[in-house]
Amino acid sequence: MVTELLAAWAHGAQALALLNAAQQQGYTTYLAEARTPQEFAQFSGLPAATADDVLAALVAHGVAEQTDGRFRLTDDMTAALGGLVDFAAQIEEAVLGARMVDSVLRTGEAPLTAADALVVARANALRPSAPGAGALVEKLFESAPEMWQAMAGGRLLDIGSGVSGFVLTAATVLPGLRATTIELVPEVAAVAAARAEEIGVADRIDVRVMDAREFDEPAAYDAAFWAQPFFPSPVRAATLAMILRSLRPGGFLLMQQLDAEPEDVRPAFTLRRMVARAQQLAFARPLADLVAEASSAGFEPIRTVVTDLGPVALLRRPPS
Ligand SMILES: C[S@@+](CC[C@H](N)C(=O)[O-])C[C@H]1O[C@@H](n2cnc3c(N)ncnc32)[C@H](O)[C@@H]1O
Repeated sequence: MVTELLAAWAHGAQALALLNAAQQQGYTTYLAEARTPQEFAQFSGLPAATADDVLAALVAHGVAEQTDGRFRLTDDMTAALGGLVDFAAQIEEAVLGARMVDSVLRTGEAPLTAADALVVARANALRPSAPGAGALVEKLFESAPEMWQAMAGGRLLDIGSGVSGFVLTAATVLPGLRATTIELVPEVAAVAAARAEEIGVADRIDVRVMDAREFDEPAAYDAAFWAQPFFPSPVRAATLAMILRSLRPGGFLLMQQLDAEPEDVRPAFTLRRMVARAQQLAFARPLADLVAEASSAGFEPIRTVVTDLGPVALLRRPPS
């Protein structure tokens, strides 16, 4: 019943607000070490009784635990924050999702600011420094060994690079890889460039800030990775045409399907679909449809595989 569901929805919204504020206020970082309630009150600047209530709420939600009168993050929360993807950004993306739902209902649109785009990019990127990130990318390419080989000593074009989680991770595993990344939002590309410097691969990564449709380096790349879920319908055909002409004959294109239509109607899915469609994204487009879309742009399908990172399709520019 809706009256009962409201209590669950209200709790979910409040729990998300708790987690987001705890992250933004630096409490999760501070609680990486065990702290007394007095230390926490002093750090947060909150009245002692409020600080106690905050700690109790963090414990109740599995974020922190209490041992011998001290509070620290749970192992679960510590693992999430140090995981393969940026969990802090995923919390922010969840908050953004609620704002986007509101926007769609009021205006029919869900536009992203540059700051929103950065949240989305961070929340959907592997962290190259996370333990296991390199191994995960290598495993993904067990399904596309010819592309991995082409990347090992060749040039990769990364279209819709975001903060370049994929490319930077691949570059750490493949010392011979050179890549060009294309990203529309300058604030997002700036983070990718800074991360490339940080991990010492900037000399091999050429970060371009532009609309992918305008990129013009014909037949210069051995392989391409297209972040297709983030490209709206009006730009997809021109983007695929650009990728085709940028690849050398026989060069590879890898695409990933991120979301899938559930068999039953799941409420969360309907909300995400509503927002994505208002953004004109090809939300949960099935892999077969993605292959058909790329084929009609002139690509030749090689295979589709379900990997640990979801379903992927490998295609190539026809060899001349
Ligand atoms: C979220 S990222 C994908 C994650 C990324 N592949 C990684 O490995 O970290 C997708 C990016 O595509 C960018 N994008 C969307 N349309 C674009 C276009 N027409 N040209 C260039 N970039 C675009 C978005 O700004 C977004 O940052």
